[in-house]
Amino acid sequence: MIVPSLSQQDVSLLREDTPATGRLIHFNNAGTGLIPAPVLNAVKYHLDLEAQLGGYEAAAAAKPELDAFYTSLSALLGCKPHEIAYVENATRAWDMAFYGIDFRKGDRIVTGRAEYVSNYVAFLQVKNRKGIEIDIIEDDKNGQIDLVELKAAITPKTRLIALTHIPTFSGLINPAEDVGEIARASNVLYLLDACQSAGQIPVNVNEIGCDMLSGTGRKYLRGPRGTGFLFVSDNVLDQLDPPFVDLQAANWIDENRFELVPHAQRFETWERYVAGQVGLGVAATYAIGFGMERIGNRVCSLGAQLRSELSRLNGVELHDKGARKGGIVTFALAGETPVQTKARLAEERINVSVSNASSARIDLPHRGLDAVVRASLHAYNTEEEIEHFVKVLGKYRE
Ligand SMILES: Cc1ncc(COP(=O)(O)O)c(C=O)c1O
Repeated sequence: MIVPSLSQQDVSLLREDTPATGRLIHFNNAGTGLIPAPVLNAVKYHLDLEAQLGGYEAAAAAKPELDAFYTSLSALLGCKPHEIAYVENATRAWDMAFYGIDFRKGDRIVTGRAEYVSNYVAFLQVKNRKGIEIDIIEDDKNGQIDLVELKAAITPKTRLIALTHIPTFSGLINPAEDVGEIARASNVLYLLDACQSAGQIPVNVNEIGCDMLSGTGRKYLRGPRGTGFLFVSDNVLDQLDPPFVDLQAANWIDENRFELVPHAQRFETWERYVAGQVGLGVAATYAIGFGMERIGNRVCSLGAQLRSELSRLNGVELHDKGARKGGIVTFALAGETPVQTKARLAEERINVSVSNASSARIDLPHRGLDAVVRASLHAYNTEEEIEHFVKVLGKYRE
């Protein structure tokens, strides 16, 4: 079945819900997406409730909305509500899973060149602490993780496959499902960083076959800042020991004993940004309402349009790789640094960001790059915005 992209009517609705689209061109969705009106209203409503009733009382009143967070996120990811934990950001969500693994000296982690900076720094910390080894799998000829090499790299010492689905610094969509097949066949834990993919393309944990998955609220899901989530499959729950526990994660049984709660909420903390939890639940429901297949198709086709138009511009070097590419478009302009390009675009009320080698040490320098401009498109962006963007870039070359 071919799922079409969003209709023009859907795009108009998305833009109506996103008033800032009338004032600026926001191509920085890999940084933060613009929050749609239903999310903004839900967060404001809850903050107001806290001011009117008191924080604890407001949380009690919002119990249905707080419960809806788990059902919405589980519907988005294709898992059970109790396999979802609410965490303050994607990094901490990922950490709760990663540091929950009891690594021993000589254990190996397999990862790819797209891996996110904070994840890799955590690998290095555990390497220094415990003497684990890190195997970096090379890209294949298309620029995605090489599946043949990945399969060959798995040894009886391999404890974890850690993959970043869509990197922060390129248009690549890694073949997460194929990696899942290898993980299942070799019975190795599989932790997927879906921080850039959740909300950008369909992400289904069963189809992917990952055991743990982390994501953030503020990017393609268009939720509030300071929110994130972790999926932990029931199948591996008991293989992970949460690195921190509190009264949310565990019950204090008697003076000397506690018991972890029997689901993914053992990775949460009690104190939280409650309005953010409500808002993130609404953001997931909002995305599901438009259809993740449709959103994904539109984001990918806008990304392809931008790449195609940029490739016709003199002096532009495109830096995206991968057999499958999404809505993140990276490039550099001859005679101008990425920081200068970003500043010039900002003067025209166009938001982009810059990805630096310091956040991509096993990828960008490996490709001879110090920095790239990152233009990241969402479904509410338009073909006309892309044309305007390319025109503004072209002006400099005249
Ligand atoms: C691939 C990837 N993983 C993880 C993160 C971290 O997300 P957060 O800032 O919510 O911790 C980012 C943020 O840019 C990212 O792009």
